[in-house]
Amino acid sequence: MENIKVEKDVCLLAIESSCDETAAAVVKNGREVLSNVIYSQIALHTEYGGVVPEIASRKHIEKINQVIRQALSDAGKSLQDLDGIAVTYGPGLVGALLVGVSEAKAISFATGLPLLGIHHIEGHISANYIENKELEPPFVCLVASGGHSHLVVVKDYGEYEIIGRTRDDAAGEAFDKVARAIGLGYPGGPKIDKLSKEGNPDAIAFPRAKVNENEYDFSFSGLKSAVLNYLNGCQMKGEEVNRADVAASFQKAVIDVLVEHSIHAVKQFGYDKFAIAGGVASNSSLRKAFEERCASEGIQFYHPSPIYCTDNAAMIGAAGYYEFIKGVRSGYDLNAVPGLKLGER
Ligand code: KG4
Ligand code: ZN
Repeated sequence: MENIKVEKDVCLLAIESSCDETAAAVVKNGREVLSNVIYSQIALHTEYGGVVPEIASRKHIEKINQVIRQALSDAGKSLQDLDGIAVTYGPGLVGALLVGVSEAKAISFATGLPLLGIHHIEGHISANYIENKELEPPFVCLVASGGHSHLVVVKDYGEYEIIGRTRDDAAGEAFDKVARAIGLGYPGGPKIDKLSKEGNPDAIAFPRAKVNENEYDFSFSGLKSAVLNYLNGCQMKGEEVNRADVAASFQKAVIDVLVEHSIHAVKQFGYDKFAIAGGVASNSSLRKAFEERCASEGIQFYHPSPIYCTDNAAMIGAAGYYEFIKGVRSGYDLNAVPGLKLGER
């Protein structure tokens, strides 16, 4: 889809509540963020070492109206000024998703505004459009978050082919589990990122897993076990663990695999643009590794700012715009689909 021309500006209210962020945004023409409000529940879940679905749903119910009001007021818009409502309807936690979906349906019913159910991963990928105004499909995108590690060919707006996925843990999940094992707490990604700066990434040789049947698939559970075995070994020998070295060496092992698989895919499929998305995409060493590698391979590298990597609603507004101008609309039978596949409706 080239040079899309739309007569009138399209302003969407976007809602995201698939996990532990209650978020709303107003986005104009898919790329201009007029407001982006995120209420993060992380502090509530920290004491449990991970997201507790029941607590997440309850908090979404408590916060969602406030977050939407704030997004409208920050954007200087009222519901009457808008053209539609985009909402994440999957994948994610069913109870959490239901809060956003029910809210969006209620607003749509009350105002008559069109409703659009959006795929969460399509949102993460579309976050790249917000700050990279020139980025257009086709390109390859690595989506690495707490729940997903996908290598996706973005053939066109809303047209995706998943060429690689994790066989076990998602990249972010591996970060979170290793962080817990070395006593850093939840969420582990940012903490490992920080501690790694003080460690030696070549101190410990952790494995880089290859999946034989598909060269683009990932597997991180073996790496996680190798870290746990290393920690147990140290404990049994009475050796002190250098946590910064463990963090840096683990992080390097994850990044090496993500970079190798992604660059291989970009080259094999013959594209010259590559983007990253999802919570793990804010990792500073990962960004640096991709920047360097893409520069040396002549690949144009795109990434969202950290605020658009983490779960947010602006990315849902960006994805929603391209669905909106294609004429996609959802009915009032829109439901939360916890296991929704990318490209499915
Ligand atoms: O996209 P996201 O906010 O939520 C999901 O859709 O899952 O991703 C959250 C994940 C968590 O596993 C978190 O530890 C990880 O992203 N993460 C990071 C960093 N910041 C967040 N992982 C590595 N380095 C980071 N700086
Ligand atoms: Zn996400």
